[in-house]
Amino acid sequence: MAIEDTEDPAMAGGMRAGELRIDLPGGFDAQIYFIGRIRTPWSLRAECPRQGDSVSGPICTIEVDPRWRDALKGIEGNERLQILYWMGQARRDLVLQTPRGQPPIGTFALRSPARPNPIASSFVSLLKIDQLTLTVRGLDCVDGTALVDIKPVYPRSGSVG
Ligand SMILES: C[S@@+](CC[C@H](N)C(=O)[O-])C[C@H]1O[C@@H](n2cnc3c(N)ncnc32)[C@H](O)[C@@H]1O
Repeated sequence: MAIEDTEDPAMAGGMRAGELRIDLPGGFDAQIYFIGRIRTPWSLRAECPRQGDSVSGPICTIEVDPRWRDALKGIEGNERLQILYWMGQARRDLVLQTPRGQPPIGTFALRSPARPNPIASSFVSLLKIDQLTLTVRGLDCVDGTALVDIKPVYPRSGSVG
């Protein structure tokens, strides 16, 4: 990923004043499967919104890999979904970050994609499902971002669980 592809050097190779990086662990504790891809209108991070808008954001599609076809059974009954996705272009070693115009703050106090495990989460409205393709509103990632998981948001529970 070239630094010039982003508006935010902290997410690529550079660091801002006040930011702090650490050495990452020597190995991983787990492995994950990407289950599909997210299609959005944005090819660069700089073009993405900071957070998706499930009401007036642009229509995006989620393409689930054929292997997981059966795992989609019944999903059409949900108006809202939680989408988890992998922010593969983000650096993973920052513990203090300096959001534009703000003092440094800890990574776990932010929703920045730069984090040890760059998993993003958005609550989207499900508009349509056609076989392996879900049409939604509410995403904020670059086109082609890897899909990690899809979960229903239960209405009236006061939580997502
Ligand atoms: C602030 S994050 C929020 C993500 C998610 N809604 C959350 O709260 O976990 C969204 C930003 O991540 C950046 N981004 C989008 N796609 C990315 C990707 N594939 N890898 C790294 N950064 C990405 C863009 O700058 C975008 O504005």
